[in-house]
Amino acid sequence: MSSRIFRDRMVFDESYKPRKLLVRGEEASMIISRYATRLQEYSGFTDVSLIYGSIGRVGIGKTTVAWHVGRGLSEFAKSRGVNFKPVYVNAFGAPTLHQVLSVIVDQLGLNVSVRGSSPIEVLKAIVDYLYIKDTFSLVVIDEFQSLLLSPKMSDDDLYTLLRVYEEVPSKDELNRMSFLLVASDFRVMPYMRERIPQIESQIGFRVHLKPYTSEELKTILVQRAEEGLTPGSWDEYLLDMISEYFGDDKGGDGSARKAILTLRTAAELAEAEEQNTIREEHVRRAISESALAYIPLGDLRNLSTHELIIVAAVAAETMEKGGWTTTGDLRKKYEELSIFYGEEPRGHTQFHAYLKNLTTIGLIEARLSGKGMRGKTTLIRLPPEIPAERIREAVDSILLDRVNQQRR
Ligand SMILES: Nc1ncnc2c1ncn2[C@@H]1O[C@H](COP(=O)(O)OP(=O)(O)O)[C@@H](O)[C@H]1O
Ligand SMILES: [Mg+2]
Repeated sequence: MSSRIFRDRMVFDESYKPRKLLVRGEEASMIISRYATRLQEYSGFTDVSLIYGSIGRVGIGKTTVAWHVGRGLSEFAKSRGVNFKPVYVNAFGAPTLHQVLSVIVDQLGLNVSVRGSSPIEVLKAIVDYLYIKDTFSLVVIDEFQSLLLSPKMSDDDLYTLLRVYEEVPSKDELNRMSFLLVASDFRVMPYMRERIPQIESQIGFRVHLKPYTSEELKTILVQRAEEGLTPGSWDEYLLDMISEYFGDDKGGDGSARKAILTLRTAAELAEAEEQNTIREEHVRRAISESALAYIPLGDLRNLSTHELIIVAAVAAETMEKGGWTTTGDLRKKYEELSIFYGEEPRGHTQFHAYLKNLTTIGLIEARLSGKGMRGKTTLIRLPPEIPAERIREAVDSILLDRVNQQRR
């Protein structure tokens, strides 16, 4: 069945990447050209640059810009006949050096077993592989603040990763791996200065991304509408309504993610009514829905710090393993994250009381394990309608905010 409203639904998918960056294109080109120069000179590819956002802002294009840098460099490398592979690691889903390395190994398509090898052995395999294939790689580490603050990541681990070639020089002494760090806010810089000053002082570019203005959001929305909606089914003034609602200059939070999601919801509402055009009414309803249905920020802000840490732990478990997790595993993750956020983990009784409360509010789901598991245990998961990565981001920014207020 062809839709009267949608030309291509995928355009409104979270994972959709527009071919051309109409906004933030300059930032991306600037970063690309820095790495490109190093690729071209063929004299060692060891740059570390940083993209960071404004405190607590998500949906402002950090991941998008980093992704475009990877793609832009691939194109550049291809045009020069240089072998190049971009790698993308989300630190929320890979909180230890081992896990980061295992993602790199996977994406490079290496055939080594990370399990049972030391990080240095794995890095050696990576460096050898890049040497043998004469391939360069840009490793994007998204949500880098989370790696930096992780108690499981020692200073040595961070140095080992980000200065691979000091630990494991390449056979021909040519460095082939650069890093692009993406962090959710600027506090990552003082943390880096504290933990890994030698790397902090060598960061090439530091690119600060601000929340989007209405005008920028409008450009982004027009691009999506042209690519994803049927001509004649939408009108520019509807896009103005959305971009003005979310634009940072108009008091919104400057999130492109919310703006795009709202346009998609409006289109779906029109479609459900079998209309040929999206109308103002659909947009209004979509705006109020996006305010409600998104992440339950109000609920989150009302939670105690330890409850928030538990929500973060459930989200982390979901991102790492998917599906249900056991209370035992969750407890471990909770203890880790407590240390991460500078909190003493609470005792078992309190922990279970928190779980109960979170279940009552509906932020997590619990059930008893069935067959296939020894003994009965309670299994926990994030409700399916809550996106793990989004809630992890939201909780992380609330918690870091609290940590920071205590420090002051
Ligand atoms: N400059 C842009 N042009 C087009 N789409 C964008 C742009 N910036 C963000 N988006 C879209 O908005 C959503 C959120 O962007 P993302 O890069 O994930 O934000 P962040 O990493 O800062 O949380 C994604 O769907 C992305 O495609
Ligand atoms: Mg992101």
